[in-house]
Amino acid sequence: MIAEAVKAQLACCEAFEMVDVVKPGFINLKLHPQFVAEYLEKMKKADKLGLETAVQPKKVIVDYGGANVAKPLHIGHLRSAVIGESVKRIAQFVGHEVIGDTHLGDWGYQMGLIITEMQKRHPELPYFDESFTGEYPEEAPFTISELEEIYPFASGYAKEHEDYREAALQATFQLQNGRRGYRALWQHIMKVSITDLKKNYNNLHVTFEWWKGESDAQEYIAPMVEKMKADGFAYMDQGALVVDVKEESDSKEIPPCMILKSDGAALYSTTDLATLVERVKLVDPDQVIYLTDKRQELHFVQVFRCAKKTGIVGDNVDLKFIGFGTMNGKDGKPFKTREGGVMRLEHLIADINEEMYKKIMDNRTVSEDEARKTAEIVGLAALKYGDLSNQASKDYVFDIDRFTSFEGNTGPYILYTIVRIKSILHKYVEQGGELSAVTILGQVNESEKALMLEAAKFNEVIENAYQDLAPHKICAYIYDLANAFNRFYHETKILAEEDAAMKKSYIALLVLTKEILEICIDLLGFEAPERM
Ligand code: ARG
Repeated sequence: MIAEAVKAQLACCEAFEMVDVVKPGFINLKLHPQFVAEYLEKMKKADKLGLETAVQPKKVIVDYGGANVAKPLHIGHLRSAVIGESVKRIAQFVGHEVIGDTHLGDWGYQMGLIITEMQKRHPELPYFDESFTGEYPEEAPFTISELEEIYPFASGYAKEHEDYREAALQATFQLQNGRRGYRALWQHIMKVSITDLKKNYNNLHVTFEWWKGESDAQEYIAPMVEKMKADGFAYMDQGALVVDVKEESDSKEIPPCMILKSDGAALYSTTDLATLVERVKLVDPDQVIYLTDKRQELHFVQVFRCAKKTGIVGDNVDLKFIGFGTMNGKDGKPFKTREGGVMRLEHLIADINEEMYKKIMDNRTVSEDEARKTAEIVGLAALKYGDLSNQASKDYVFDIDRFTSFEGNTGPYILYTIVRIKSILHKYVEQGGELSAVTILGQVNESEKALMLEAAKFNEVIENAYQDLAPHKICAYIYDLANAFNRFYHETKILAEEDAAMKKSYIALLVLTKEILEICIDLLGFEAPERM
């Protein structure tokens, strides 16, 4: 009876060709082809394909990347950069005002280690002479390759030599307390390292609006701590300064947030809290999204609660943590080099590009030069899609053969589909067709209908992906869309269609499909080549 009533209500709705009540309690709906065609036409003409953008844009900071200065980027940083970049682009596309901040680890013990090792190797440099009052050299006393060799060396050496470790800790302390020569050396480390990081991130198509770091937060620590004490939130517990953050509804124990160690030193949480003080001062964000390995979850629970409780951020500020799983090798263990070491990001990228290059050369007749360039574009898609198509919190297996395959749920398959559409449109134009003069008319066969219905989901998918900050939903969508297109392509003569209006309608649907796919891969952070 209810279903019959619903059917009666829907009778006047032009969207449906058929509304049918089926016992015991179903309603089958069939969309009117004309209605769907008009909807898609509207989409095609509208800005952002008709996406309803935010009425009140939010100020959002996405904290991702998280590289540590002087240490090479390794694959542990890959996921943060790849997922963070996509989340940032999605939030921007939906209409928010978004700042990406890489939040460099630029203030810790690794700096003390480098200073100590430099002093051992080059004691004559002015940075170590406390009586030196002149100008320090403009040129850094090391190159990036030296820097990358110094850090692991010093780090290993300190583990075996207690006095060396002490010296490095002491150097860290003096750097943080403003020793002039160390600051100057630190500036060099920063400059050399950031230049290299920028190059690497550029290769990944990852860009940050802000290159701030832990060091930028330091000036906010002392006043923040004073205020926490004065307001009665921070108290001494076994020599350390802490703020309680447990809540009644907790199902497991959440330990207090540590603000200062018993020796007075600031911690990772202190820096993150002070960074929030700075962010509120600079942009007063409505939302801050953090991306790190999910093992840092407790840290962020403590920091978020502490920031709210102590009033560093207002109650209405949305602090979000996206914790991601590990990228594993085929053995199910965290991905390693063949020698068992930590894989450097640039080597991983080089490997995947090489594999792509081979595949492209294998079955195609393009020049080596073009194949190299295409391999870079497709390789990046393979890498990013391989990562992003998994729900972020899950671990996944880095499988170079699968990721670079042109078939299945992969980046290259998506790009291949786009390239196929481009090539049809290209031929259409060559034959004198005009892409702006085509209109979607409505379906003639099942596969066209399926493609149209897939295309019509775009808006909902983007809204959903933004709501859940979930790029994998966009991946799942474009995989379905690509499949729907390829089925349509195999079942339909497009360019050979004799009915002119129908041919134009097919072309119009291709134009829209291509645009959707291109917007989506841009939101994922990669692009399609012209040919492959
Ligand atoms: N540098 C840190 C690491 O390598 C990640 C920083 C993440 N961001 C933050 N605000 N804590 O683990």
